[in-house]
Amino acid sequence: MRLTERPLFYWVLNRFRGLQLFLLFVIVISLFFRVFPLEMQRKIINVAINLRLLDKLYLYCALYMGAVLIAGLLKYYTNTLQAVIGEKILVGMRRDLYQHILQLPLTFFHRTQAGSIISAVTAELNAIGGFLGGALAVPITSVLTFAVFLGYMIYLNPLLGLLSMGIYPVELAVIPLLQKWYNQYNRKRVATTRAMASLVNESVSGIHEVQSNASFMLEQNKLKRLIKRLYKIMVKLSIFKYGIKFSNNLFQSIGPFLLFLVGGYLAIHGEFTIGALIAFLSAYEKVYDPWKEVIEYYQTYQDARIRYKQIMNLFDYEPQFLLEPPKEGSRDLAGTIEAKNVCYQISDSIQLLDDISFTLTSGKHLALIGFSGSGKSTLGKLISQLYRHSSGSLSINGHEVEELSKIEIADGISSVSQHPFIFTGTVRENLLYSSNALYLHNLRDALPDRHQLIEVVKQVGLEEDLIRWGLRSVIPPQRAASLIPSFLQMRHIIQNTLREEFAQAIEFYDATKFQQYLPIGVNIIFGNYDGAYSAEKLLKIKEFREFLRDIQLETPLTEFGHMIANSTIDLLGDFIEDEFFFQGSPIKTTQFADYKELIKNTEISSLGNLSSRKREKLLALALDFTPGIHKIATLSQQLENDILAARKVFLKKIVSIDIDQCANGMIQQDILAIKEDNIDVSHDPTFTPFCINQYISAHSLRDNILFGTVIDRELIHNRLGTIAREAFEGHGLVDDITAIGLDFHVGSKGDNLSGGQKQKIALARALLKKSPIMILDEATASLDNTSQTRIQRYIEENLRGNTTVISVVHRLDMISGYDHILVMKDGKIVESGNYNDLIAQKGVLYDLINENRE
Ligand SMILES: Nc1ncnc2c1ncn2[C@@H]1O[C@H](COP(=O)(O)OP(=O)(O)O)[C@@H](O)[C@H]1O
Ligand SMILES: [Mg+2]
Repeated sequence: MRLTERPLFYWVLNRFRGLQLFLLFVIVISLFFRVFPLEMQRKIINVAINLRLLDKLYLYCALYMGAVLIAGLLKYYTNTLQAVIGEKILVGMRRDLYQHILQLPLTFFHRTQAGSIISAVTAELNAIGGFLGGALAVPITSVLTFAVFLGYMIYLNPLLGLLSMGIYPVELAVIPLLQKWYNQYNRKRVATTRAMASLVNESVSGIHEVQSNASFMLEQNKLKRLIKRLYKIMVKLSIFKYGIKFSNNLFQSIGPFLLFLVGGYLAIHGEFTIGALIAFLSAYEKVYDPWKEVIEYYQTYQDARIRYKQIMNLFDYEPQFLLEPPKEGSRDLAGTIEAKNVCYQISDSIQLLDDISFTLTSGKHLALIGFSGSGKSTLGKLISQLYRHSSGSLSINGHEVEELSKIEIADGISSVSQHPFIFTGTVRENLLYSSNALYLHNLRDALPDRHQLIEVVKQVGLEEDLIRWGLRSVIPPQRAASLIPSFLQMRHIIQNTLREEFAQAIEFYDATKFQQYLPIGVNIIFGNYDGAYSAEKLLKIKEFREFLRDIQLETPLTEFGHMIANSTIDLLGDFIEDEFFFQGSPIKTTQFADYKELIKNTEISSLGNLSSRKREKLLALALDFTPGIHKIATLSQQLENDILAARKVFLKKIVSIDIDQCANGMIQQDILAIKEDNIDVSHDPTFTPFCINQYISAHSLRDNILFGTVIDRELIHNRLGTIAREAFEGHGLVDDITAIGLDFHVGSKGDNLSGGQKQKIALARALLKKSPIMILDEATASLDNTSQTRIQRYIEENLRGNTTVISVVHRLDMISGYDHILVMKDGKIVESGNYNDLIAQKGVLYDLINENRE
């Protein structure tokens, strides 16, 4: 049976039957503990109280309490178990459904809005889960419980028992009626929610257009109608839902009325004991519980049924192709591709391809050219089984395409579509996507290794991009560990060969020199403490505060802070709105008022009178001061020398590093030795000194290699990629950076990538698959001319003979290298042959090329 045709109860009856039976069993057991207290109640009144037997009273009370407790615990247990079973069934249902959806024909996805699909497989399915777990056990036990209590009541008094049941038939007539109305609106609710999900999904996907057109009102208006409709539906649903509740309650209170009347009459005439009457009343109340459960069950069942039906209706289509090969072993597609009178018709009036015939032997390269909209992409999709042709014969290596399975096609054909899709994740994950899929089906022995990845990356011209991403990334310590020697080697190369060239662009770290482009705080500790620097963070460290005091820097720095605040207020007071001028001061425009207030009426000589919090703020200001950037104040030579001296003491005393060793380091071979022997990182694992042989894990790879503060961003940005490449190539270090770049995160759906980068990744992903057939649909259209030509040359030189290529080519100057050319127009092939023949023929191709030239 097709998945979408299964009734809701198929899942209940076919999954976790043992567990469901066990649930039923536990519920039946718990029934006893629900009736038992009633009997105790009767005994307490009739026996213990009436006969004044204290020991019996204790006994019955204890039994009563015990039973109530057990009943409660069992209820707790069965509720949980029921939910667990429901979720378990849901897991399988969701998995099967998702699998089914992914295999549906593309045409289904053209018709159906993504939002509806998302809503169906997430929220709508969730709502069914609650029902599934108890689908069998709950109705059975509720009816049983109902019967047991009813039996007990009849046992106590047949007349009263039957009388109190009289209302239920009436209720049975009314509730389904209300439910029917409820269901009707419930269906509308599902449909409306889906429509909303689709709209929201669309605006989110097209957020570029929305924001650049400021079409907020337009989008809002589309949703407004649905929001209103949903509101009305929800109100109606509540009316019916609580209507059912109301009628239920009403009927329930008619019961005791009858009981009091008739039961009271009987008791007064001595035909019924008080104990029995109380037990009867309790039993009557208890009957209400299973009844309520039945009603609730009925309601959730109706709800689940409707949602389920609507979900399954949405996906009620057949996949067009087999998923797996029918027999063992998949068929080899390395062979001739042959199309005979292939047509593709999507409706009576629309025919996208008409009478397509061609033969392409293994290893040959075919170019598809023609006007936009002529059916080139469609033909590619027919061959790669994304569409199914309506008539004619299309075969690969003698196998009809429509008889091949999806997996065989995936194995045999790699395609790059016109607008390739990049998945959220890293570049590496995207490159391995196709190979990974085949690997999971045991069609590949291993995933491409680092060497192969880098090879392909170079072929598609992605290397420069990867180097840039690699340099930009902050590498997690575990990943960096084995590469640190390489990174330090890169740093040495830059220091040795490019120091001169970069002298104006970078202030290199030097432990023996005051750094004009580092804040004073960093100048003192000369390292990275716990991620990004901030003076406040530094001042929170007790040791650091004590150190500043001991070295007698606290007062001069606070005074310097006062000076900065003073001149900022004097000089920039009139430019408070202008961020630009404030670049010259460590005070931000937002802090201006604060500092103004702080130093009001405070002379530099009376700083001691300020509160310690205020003094700390001035101190922080000084620590944030970066002489190379902040021109609002000048650091005296004296203070600069003191800071440098303080650094030496700090490194020695606090982190046990010798400043000279830190600055000069050892020769390359000793990098690791230095790290282990001479640098005591154990003192504070969050602190990393800026020593020449120390990798700074909080910094990007670029900053680690440059080992300094970038002053001229422009120059570094423009030149570093190329320079790094030249400098590192000889040492075999480029691949290390490229490999780091593979872990670059491409953003949601590849949003961090340019169109060209996306195409390069898609190409690399297809090449890594190493399939005998490759279909390229304008696969290099977003690339620059040089890259296009290079890739074209690669395809011609390396794939010819071993890979059959069908390529939709948009640049006519690139087709001369193809073995065969098909010119398409309006879904038909208008010319077919090799380049020279077609040119000599002076037909359509000839005209096209000449038109282009003009
Ligand atoms: N699902 C569809 N329904 C109707 N027309 C379609 C559908 N898909 C594609 N088309 C039409 O088919 C024609 C061929 O499209 P395509 O193969 O993408 O052209 P090409 O790649 O040559 O530019 C176009 O006119 C396009 O509008
Ligand atoms: Mg196209």
